[in-house]
Amino acid sequence: MLKPTFRRLRGTALSALCLSLCLLACGQADAADRPHLVERDGRHALIVDGAPFLMLGAQVHNSSNYAQALGKVWPAVADIHANTVEVPVAWEQVEPVEGRFDFSFVDTLLDQARKHHVRLVLLWFGTWKNTSPQYTPEWVRFDNQRFPRMVDKDGKLSYCLSPFGDETRKADTRAFTALMSHLKKADARQQTVIMVQVENEVGTYGTVRDFGAKAQAAFERPVPQAVLARKKPPVPGKASGNWREVYGDYADEYFHAWAIASYIEEVAKAGRAQYDLPMYVNNALRDALEQPPQPWKGNFASGGPTHDVIDIYKAAAPHIDIAAPDLYNPESGRVAATLAQFQRADNALWVPEMSNAESYARYVYAILGRGSLGISPFGIDYFNYSNFPLGSKFTDKRMVEPFAGIYAVFGSMQRQWATWAFEGRTHGVAEGDDHADQTITMKGWKAQVSFGQWQFGEKDGVRERPAHADKPLGGVAIAQVSDDEFVIIGQYARVRIDPATPQGNGSMIARAEEGRFDVNGRWVMERNWNGDQTDSGLNLPATPTVLKVRLGRY
Ligand code: DGJ
Repeated sequence: MLKPTFRRLRGTALSALCLSLCLLACGQADAADRPHLVERDGRHALIVDGAPFLMLGAQVHNSSNYAQALGKVWPAVADIHANTVEVPVAWEQVEPVEGRFDFSFVDTLLDQARKHHVRLVLLWFGTWKNTSPQYTPEWVRFDNQRFPRMVDKDGKLSYCLSPFGDETRKADTRAFTALMSHLKKADARQQTVIMVQVENEVGTYGTVRDFGAKAQAAFERPVPQAVLARKKPPVPGKASGNWREVYGDYADEYFHAWAIASYIEEVAKAGRAQYDLPMYVNNALRDALEQPPQPWKGNFASGGPTHDVIDIYKAAAPHIDIAAPDLYNPESGRVAATLAQFQRADNALWVPEMSNAESYARYVYAILGRGSLGISPFGIDYFNYSNFPLGSKFTDKRMVEPFAGIYAVFGSMQRQWATWAFEGRTHGVAEGDDHADQTITMKGWKAQVSFGQWQFGEKDGVRERPAHADKPLGGVAIAQVSDDEFVIIGQYARVRIDPATPQGNGSMIARAEEGRFDVNGRWVMERNWNGDQTDSGLNLPATPTVLKVRLGRY
């Protein structure tokens, strides 16, 4: 039987069509007609309308969740060529008065998204938004008695609501359940909404956990078996016992992660009982390069689904499919480490937020090449607000331009790309801050990717460097579509493909067609690259370009 969250598919690679037919034939009609996640051999796909779907996302600004604000959203969504829009639904807006729900914004959003032919990911801004209760209704936000805040170890009240507040959890669960039940009525047939984020960047700054009486009592109880089974102590402790006994100096962070994850589980479980869509949590990262991760010392939001506690989230929140990273640290080493930490057999890679600054555009190639369910830069609407230095300085078309060309080429082949990714055929790199060459290892072949070159000849001995050489802007994604055939998408990079191990006399390019995929997924050739265009490798220009390349051996 297929599991409710990740439905496992085993066997040989299936095309998008075969996949949905198989699900239907196996009597899983419900699985085929509702957005859901599948996992096979440790790889993942989001199935929408019966086939893998690649989310080319755009997350709107935090305050764009109002009907009038949407007017500044759609032009940006069109300009960037997104197929999925992430929009907050705030608890304060749907339940301003306790027990009286108003989903009129959700209805407007559904209607307009359908008219603009995009899917939606809804972001539930509930008890925690960037750890804070700022999106809870006022009747929650200012009532410390009924909706208790956390207490630090000196007994001081934190800004952050306690995960041990029974009334808070019940009220959040009620509101989220009402949202999911409304969505079922309003959208189960059209399936505009394909995924839901529960809360936003949870955790707590300033205190490692709640030291209130209820929390303290739970901290002194034995670590639950489900957590023990998944999360081994980083430094050997006792095999069982209370949190401190088992996890030593890591106990406080781990306990807080368990407390928040357990709270989220109740919210998500109740919501999915109404309408079972894939659900995930997003994460303000801790330093990906701190290895091994050290106990919390005020340096990140304790209790959030950081990479070191994914196992605790898996144990405590089985109704959350994915712990997802938000990328706001521009350094290429940190981005690469983060992607590796969050891409696991039990955790699909999905990047629901990334800075919209130009230097992040190249990461789209690395992220989609790794087989992510999708990607979504943040702040994609023409509201007059820029979150520079985190993101772009621009609030007009110049903000979306670095991403638009990349989305356009992936967009025309998104179903195909998502299927190839699910089959394990895709790879991707982004130019590192050091501009160094990178190698992609594939079945029987390897691709050498270099950056900062002119299109002709080698860089050695040429004094003048191209204008782009000092900026890391390059990226390449490759799908090995058959043994000797590749679809290459990229910009600002040179690609050379050679046999993985020397064999025979050598290899040569048979065809290197530049072109695009049409709306029916058919390849349309524009020209065949040869002569100067291949003698110095395949030189992908500033404009994102698609090549279909076949190699031969002689
Ligand atoms: C990450 C949060 O999840 C977003 O809602 C937003 O606040 C950005 N940080 C910063 O612009």
